[in-house]
Amino acid sequence: MSQEDVPAVFDLERVSFQNSSWTIDAFYHELEQNNFAHYFVMTYDEAIIGYIGLWIVVDQAQITTVAVAPEYRGYGLGQLLLNYVKNFASAIATMMSLEVRENNLVAQHVYKKLGFQYGGKRKNYYGDGEDACVMWVNLND
Ligand SMILES: CC(C)(COP(=O)(O)OP(=O)(O)OC[C@H]1O[C@@H](n2cnc3c(N)ncnc32)[C@H](O)[C@@H]1OP(=O)(O)O)[C@@H](O)C(=O)NCCC(=O)NCCS
Repeated sequence: MSQEDVPAVFDLERVSFQNSSWTIDAFYHELEQNNFAHYFVMTYDEAIIGYIGLWIVVDQAQITTVAVAPEYRGYGLGQLLLNYVKNFASAIATMMSLEVRENNLVAQHVYKKLGFQYGGKRKNYYGDGEDACVMWVNLND
């Protein structure tokens, strides 16, 4: 992901998450200021149809966000994005984790297919009070 990609990524963010706490400046900040951050876009016919971000701190990787454009969902692209960053992170980190809304069963299904397991719950994690499930995968497996 480059700075020029951010407006299109942010459009995708807005259609993908109802109560997102991300601002457009947060994306610019991640790209310009956060040395732990790695962000990728997926393109088709030069349009951005998906994106994913992660932080890698020492041997721990954490997915910060992932989305596929609504019209491209259900074709395996979310799994492709996640597999890509699993491979990317496994060169550096030993464990990858993420938080997912308790009611986001599609995302949880995708994470489970990629080997993530439930690690616990964060109560009232989201601004609207919904709990988060913590999921993690061992990158050495
Ligand atoms: C989560 C997301 C990235 C997945 O992307 P995608 O490209 O649709 O994912 P895939 O096509 O790789 O896989 C979708 C899987 O969910 C399954 N699925 C579809 N609807 C489902 C439902 N209602 N309940 C459970 N699983 C469902 C599909 O069958 C498929 O699984 P399969 O491969 O076993 O058949 C996408 O749905 C998205 O952008 N959602 C909005 C943003 C979001 O919630 N991000 C995650 C934040 S933690």
